[in-house]
Amino acid sequence: MTDLLLLPGDGIGPEVTAQVRRVAEALTPDLKLEERLFGGASYDAFGTPLADETLAAAKAARAVLMGAVGGPKWAGVPRDKRPEAGLLNLRAGMEVFANLRPALCFGPLADASSLKRELVEGLDFMIVRELTGGIYFGEPRFIEELPGGGKRAVDTQVYTTAEIERVARVAFELARGRRNKVASAEKSNVMDSGLLWREVVTDLHKREYADVELTHILADNAAMQIVKAPKQFDVLLTDNLFGDILSDAAAQLTGSLGMLPSAALGVAGKPGLYEPIHGSAPDIAGQGVANPLAAILSFEMALRWSLDRAAEADRLYAAVERALEKGARTRDLGGALTTVQMGDAVLAEL
Ligand code: NAD
Ligand code: IPM
Ligand code: MN
Repeated sequence: MTDLLLLPGDGIGPEVTAQVRRVAEALTPDLKLEERLFGGASYDAFGTPLADETLAAAKAARAVLMGAVGGPKWAGVPRDKRPEAGLLNLRAGMEVFANLRPALCFGPLADASSLKRELVEGLDFMIVRELTGGIYFGEPRFIEELPGGGKRAVDTQVYTTAEIERVARVAFELARGRRNKVASAEKSNVMDSGLLWREVVTDLHKREYADVELTHILADNAAMQIVKAPKQFDVLLTDNLFGDILSDAAAQLTGSLGMLPSAALGVAGKPGLYEPIHGSAPDIAGQGVANPLAAILSFEMALRWSLDRAAEADRLYAAVERALEKGARTRDLGGALTTVQMGDAVLAEL
């Protein structure tokens, strides 16, 4: 059985996952790794961003680690064959409905953030993003020509009680092991799906999690609060689209988008999907300068959440922290290390 399926993907994806492979080979040499084409690379080879065999391999592995997908090369490809569609189909196929995106500012990086040091020092909150529903998957969706000229494009936001409840449960459970606070973000002031979201979260809280402090926050205000006073958050629960946007904003608080890992979890006992939250970064792809830490920290989450290797996860986390303390910085963090040199710095601390 494969322990970790690596899907390097496109752009900087292969560059950062190569560093994950080095770390895995040094830290957990007994793990069985496998690697497959995914995203644009898979489209070029097989005409589909997610081959059936790749999805089957993902479901059969204990954990999957994805680099990044997409890029200008595939901009003209029909939407259902685009690299990003492969990622959505992978998430749906693996049924990983809860996406944990930790916004954690490592002490040595407090000055790398675009916010003032005092606002981000000690920052540690967790975005719990619904990942397999909402406007990303809702039907109908289409673009049509209008008889009088011009076009009409339709996307649909859909949520059911069950979809909201299961992800809210993950948020409440996580909060109990942290600072016991959940903020649930939606737009119940303008969206019916937002109204249902608030109702379901409120009901579940009353029934099973009354010990957790729950607040409701409108998503636009949440964006403002994230850059005003991010340390107020402990667990921030969001739908699919708001979570995508708010997590990029949160990433910058930690110093760089290249720092934020994620874990996508579903049914207990099934494999998790681990991915840095950044994309394929076409502007720096091929230059060997991408920050591999989001990918390496995604492996750290895989060790913890899917592979039963908490001790190794602790060691890896500490190694990243020490490397940063000693001044290891890629360009996005204001330094000059290459991707491989950042990998070297982490390996040296392991
Ligand atoms: P992006 O995240 O790829 O890049 C945004 C900016 O952050 C760029 O300036 C990039 O250089 C920088 N950056 C990102 N990761 C970095 C890293 N590890 N180290 C240093 N700098 C880093 O977002 P984008 O440019 O909007 O999207 C590019 C492509 O990636 C698109 O095709 C998009 O669909 C795709 N994308 C994929 C994923 C994913 O695979 N999970 C996530 C986001 C975007
Ligand atoms: C992310 C990405 C993806 C998303 C895209 C590439 C489908 O932006 O993982 O944050 O929107 O979920
Ligand atoms: Mn995103």
